[in-house]
Amino acid sequence: APQDILLILLSYLIGAIPFGLLVSRPSGIDIRTRGSRNIGATNVARLLGKKLGLLTLLLDIAKGFMPMYLAGFFTSGQGQHTLVIALCGAATIIGHMFPLYLRFRGGKGVATGLGVFLYLAPMAVLGCLVVFVAAVWLSGYVSLGSLLASATVILWLWLLGEPAWKLWLGAFVAVMIWIKHYQNIGRLLSGTEKSWSVSKTDEN
Ligand code: G3P
Repeated sequence: APQDILLILLSYLIGAIPFGLLVSRPSGIDIRTRGSRNIGATNVARLLGKKLGLLTLLLDIAKGFMPMYLAGFFTSGQGQHTLVIALCGAATIIGHMFPLYLRFRGGKGVATGLGVFLYLAPMAVLGCLVVFVAAVWLSGYVSLGSLLASATVILWLWLLGEPAWKLWLGAFVAVMIWIKHYQNIGRLLSGTEKSWSVSKTDEN
């Protein structure tokens, strides 16, 4: 239905809002040219401190959650609603990773994906969070936490008995997150990955 197409388009446009860039703009620093050059919360924290990093994280999570909420609201009672919700979730992630406003150069989809699944399966997010915190705690690398946590999302969804469409969306998001982390994977393997903390960064 045309309404579903509009919802999917709207999800993409919401996902594409570059909050990391907007949050860092007043500082005059273009985060796309420094640190990891990513527009995500990790690079904002690395370059501009924990508070702005946290603000970016929360806004990007909200950005993932919002389209799901809208899709759930507007498709309730519809036969095909799970397909529309899944497509809206995928569109939100694609929006963040390939934003129209930034010539399709976006972020890595971790916070946005968290927001999407916070709506769909909050207990699975909790499982991912445990993996994430443990990995970042032990290694000091946010990217490693993101990679390991996203890799386990399907496991949590499956253990929770969630329907297949959520597992498919989880698999899609995880694969996209891994693809977007290809530079991080290279740096992790060569031992040159950057820490998230400002004080430990000496190679901008
Ligand atoms: O969510 C992105 C994180 O996993 C890595 O960020 O800036 O270290 O590439 P960054």
